[in-house]
Amino acid sequence: MNKRILSAELQLEDSETTIRPVSLAEYIGQEAAKESLEIFIKAAKRRKESLDHVLLYGPPGLGKTTLAGVISNEMATGFKVTSGPAIEKPGDIAAILNNLKSGDILFIDEIHRMPRFVEEVLYSAMEDFYIDILVGKGEMAKSIRLDLPKFTLIGATTKAGLLSSPLRDRFGIIQRLEYYTLDELTAIIMRTAAILNTPIEIVAAMEIAKCARGTPRLANRFLKRVRDIVEIKYDKLKIGDAECVMALELLGLDEYGLDELDRKILATIKNTFDGGPVGLSALAATLAEEVETLEDVYEPYLLQKGLIKRTRSGRMLTEAAERLIRSK
Ligand code: ADE
Repeated sequence: MNKRILSAELQLEDSETTIRPVSLAEYIGQEAAKESLEIFIKAAKRRKESLDHVLLYGPPGLGKTTLAGVISNEMATGFKVTSGPAIEKPGDIAAILNNLKSGDILFIDEIHRMPRFVEEVLYSAMEDFYIDILVGKGEMAKSIRLDLPKFTLIGATTKAGLLSSPLRDRFGIIQRLEYYTLDELTAIIMRTAAILNTPIEIVAAMEIAKCARGTPRLANRFLKRVRDIVEIKYDKLKIGDAECVMALELLGLDEYGLDELDRKILATIKNTFDGGPVGLSALAATLAEEVETLEDVYEPYLLQKGLIKRTRSGRMLTEAAERLIRSK
């Protein structure tokens, strides 16, 4: 049932499934989240209860799905994956909930994108483990109560502010994920390289980490592409520092970890908008990009790097960005 809705777990590449950590001990980084989750998992297991509902929030690419899988593995429960946009009507979520077993973890990615009338079905499901479903049509329609097993909902969102408060309030555990440090990303790259049987110098792993924008998703993606380039173009099996730097350049990444679109954003603010301030939608239209991509992926990184700043009238280049542009 629900192949379309419950399909995310089947779409992972094979290598993706093997490089994902499965236990908290293997999971690198997010120390604060790990420490709290470890306690809540132990407490639930000791009492033989299901884990309270968990909301994971933070920028894209930080491993929310991976962490949900780790929690499920630590709890030794079934794991069902879906996403907010895939659930279109109350019947979709009712069917998913009805198929859960006691203790199962249901992971809903991008939970902020679930339609409000679907979200409302979740209120009673999360709080009291039942849903009311409407059977029949018109005058004959009646509502029947369907009891559900005790399950754990793990919701993930990049936009916690967009969740309605009735939904947010039903999560007992709310955990913010942070960007990874360079050391953590380097450790993740070394771990992934070992799983992929690819020898790599630690300085090369650090170079890749610098380009990964604080996220394991990009760190692992760049590692795989660098490995392809080093193997085919430089005919080497070990990723050394020199080949790694050349491969990253070939991928369009500079020594600051900026990619082509980052550089275009900075150049457009400078040349088209005189250094700013400029609104995000005007910037997106000029670059022919989605506002969402700029807002969720590019802006946080440029802000974090101190290359742009937000003002009430829009985004502006910082002095550091002006210097960077002049130096190129
Ligand atoms: N691969 C992707 N994310 C990871 C993490 N946080 N720890 C270890 N390996 C990972």
